[in-house]
Amino acid sequence: MPALPDALRQHMAVHHHYAFLNHAAVSPLPVPARDAMTAFLQSRTLYGRQRLDEWKPRIAQARQRIAQLINAQSEQITFTRNTSFGLNIVANGLDWREGDNVVVPHTEFVANVYVWRNLERLGVEVRFVPDRAGRILPEDVEAAMDARTRLLAVSFVEFQTGFRNDLAALKDICHRRGIPICVDAIQGSGVLPLDVQALELDFVTAGAQKFMLGPIGIGFLYIRPDWLPRLDRFISGWMGTIDPMNFFSYDLPFRENAWRYEEGSLSSVLIIGWNESLRLFLDIGIANIEAHVRALTDHLLAGLQRLGVEIITPHDRWEERSAIVSFRPRGDAQALAKALDEAGIAVSERGGAIRVSVHGYNTLEEIDRLLDGVKTLGNGR
Ligand SMILES: Cc1ncc(COP(=O)(O)O)c(C=O)c1O
Repeated sequence: MPALPDALRQHMAVHHHYAFLNHAAVSPLPVPARDAMTAFLQSRTLYGRQRLDEWKPRIAQARQRIAQLINAQSEQITFTRNTSFGLNIVANGLDWREGDNVVVPHTEFVANVYVWRNLERLGVEVRFVPDRAGRILPEDVEAAMDARTRLLAVSFVEFQTGFRNDLAALKDICHRRGIPICVDAIQGSGVLPLDVQALELDFVTAGAQKFMLGPIGIGFLYIRPDWLPRLDRFISGWMGTIDPMNFFSYDLPFRENAWRYEEGSLSSVLIIGWNESLRLFLDIGIANIEAHVRALTDHLLAGLQRLGVEIITPHDRWEERSAIVSFRPRGDAQALAKALDEAGIAVSERGGAIRVSVHGYNTLEEIDRLLDGVKTLGNGR
């Protein structure tokens, strides 16, 4: 297999017309993912149910690959339709009491806030932890907690700045207090290693559509097995039972594993597409992707420093960085993002900053194109 970036780039048709640096928004699909979905749709079109079983192993394979990506077991992975749904399974499955609270960094993406705020109807308080120049410090998280804190909800990587949270330190704080840590991993999974066993994480959820290069509308939730007895099924259905194909019993028990939270038929076409994206990662190896992403963002940070723009991503150490780098251009960020798009360079504007988010198939040349674009287009208003 060729080294990065070609090992991945050969599958990413987007690079023919875009320097695509916007994976933190929605990624392009790898060609093999599209082809697998097309083949499945063709099979359904021509044969309906009659050939469905041929595709079943792909679903099991995808689940296995997700598990491998985070060092878990297949039985610990629930398919969800997005990150929010995974968070909802956790939020609505725990036994809340009036006066309990949930602690959340105030730099979280809205998806990781509304789900918890929905518990306010039960008398649960959502407490926000302030950042320090983009960093979420474990001691500040702990200071926000008290005897009624029941859970910490935090991203692996913060969506705007790309700050990588210290999950090991945060988990230690939570477990010392006997409470779970619930991680929204969408801004890191696919480009950074995440070992749920080594980190002893309780809940980890992510949609497929960003750095995992998967379709929109599918995701996963990892549940640490010792939580299963304490996590009610807030949605329930036939696919969660021990024998879904037994259509004539209404008394079946539910599975003893994380599949018990899958209520009905899965989004087969999306999982079959995602399965191919996951194969690409595992073949290349996340450590290799991480090393490439690090080299790209090193180059980007050095270039931005030369341009003298304000970098809002904390970047003293690699351990606090990710595949996301954000900066405030001299001119209007929205206008710059639009001008860059017209020049074939895809980034996002977020909160007055330009957010650049790279992947294992991007090149140093693409980063140079962006830096040139910022230099020539970025000094407007
Ligand atoms: C941190 C974070 N969580 C979640 C999401 C998306 O949530 P969902 O998969 O539920 O649409 C995003 C971005 O879209 C995000 O940046």
